[in-house]
Amino acid sequence: MKHRNPKINRYYMILPGDDLLTRLRKRLTRRPVPKFPRNIQIQTQTGCNADCIFCPYGATAEGQPHGKMEWDLFRKIVDESAHHRVRRISPYLMNEPFVDRDIFHRIRYINEANPRAKVIITTNGSLLTPAVVEQILNLGEGLHELAISVQGIDPEAYEKTMRGGLKFGRTMANVEHLLAEMRRRQTTRPALWITMVDTEVIDARKAVEYWRSRGVNARYTMLENRGGNIADAQSYARHEEMDYFSDCTRLFKQAYIKFNGDLVLCCTDYEAKIILGNIRDKSLYEVWNGEVATEIRRKFLTNRIGEISLCSVCKVDREKEVEVRSNRPIAINVPPPSPGPSTPQAQA
Ligand SMILES: C[S@@+](CC[C@H](N)C(=O)[O-])C[C@H]1O[C@@H](n2cnc3c(N)ncnc32)[C@H](O)[C@@H]1O
Ligand code: SF4
Ligand code: SF4
Repeated sequence: MKHRNPKINRYYMILPGDDLLTRLRKRLTRRPVPKFPRNIQIQTQTGCNADCIFCPYGATAEGQPHGKMEWDLFRKIVDESAHHRVRRISPYLMNEPFVDRDIFHRIRYINEANPRAKVIITTNGSLLTPAVVEQILNLGEGLHELAISVQGIDPEAYEKTMRGGLKFGRTMANVEHLLAEMRRRQTTRPALWITMVDTEVIDARKAVEYWRSRGVNARYTMLENRGGNIADAQSYARHEEMDYFSDCTRLFKQAYIKFNGDLVLCCTDYEAKIILGNIRDKSLYEVWNGEVATEIRRKFLTNRIGEISLCSVCKVDREKEVEVRSNRPIAINVPPPSPGPSTPQAQA
């Protein structure tokens, strides 16, 4: 299957048939695929306590192996990353990062072994208890950015989106507590973002404006059908027709490592359908530059996306992503807009 009107990708590979002019044009207009991933996502432990409507987790978790990454493997990845230009390490992938009780040791290890890499985490916020907040803030400068996924500012739409038992009031109370503690300690680390996926189910614009008025950075991002794994994504997309993701850059700059060492195609590959290799017995460098990974990238860049099962059906809702940085100080104890519940206490 060929994609109609594929968008030009920002990355390039030099291919055997490229003449001098083609090579030069590529060099001048695009980026080479790096020899080592710029960003690394590591699934330190499987598992999530939610089942969001747009996430393949709920439907796939049962059929997938579960486990926790051994420390030797975790150290090996981080140690190797220190020898390369890695911008970011995120110790989570297709899971909720705070289910891993070792997460704070892991972040400290990254800070020590690769101090140049930023540590960035995205969480659903439900496990941000006061004890967890305390540990996050005790990391000092260690956690660079924390994004909290709060799908909208309306309790009903939130719980309709973040299914599986997450409670709007509880998450909001957790966020309030974190904000209050950051303000009390006068710290701006981790850089805090409230993030959400723009769908017809929530009012993302209203929510972003709410957080901005509170002095909190907020953004909404494009809905994806996650490699075709979310069959009904179109029904709550904001555009009538989602668009093929042919300008996706994930497989050119980011590595996605499962708890057992499998390097999978990308963050949509919840069932590990496309494994680029395993890094228990090989280095990440070897697998990243191996024949499987190279051939997939080549296909992607030469209009043969149809030969990559997940990419061939992967679509995005092309609503522009919006980030609103707040330059106001964080305001606490402002209740959520009606009909939100009165702000409950964060749960210990
Ligand atoms: C897969 S989650 C993992 C971390 C954590 N469980 C959470 O929800 O924040 C990472 C991010 O991907 C987003 N996400 C999940 N499914 C998505 C989809 N179909 N399209 C766009 N973003 C999605 C989530 O909202 C979250 O912000
Ligand atoms: S988006 Fe995050 S919180 Fe929601 S089900 Fe997926 S992994 Fe869990
Ligand atoms: S499935 Fe392919 S196109 Fe979709 S996000 Fe993954 S790498 Fe990108």
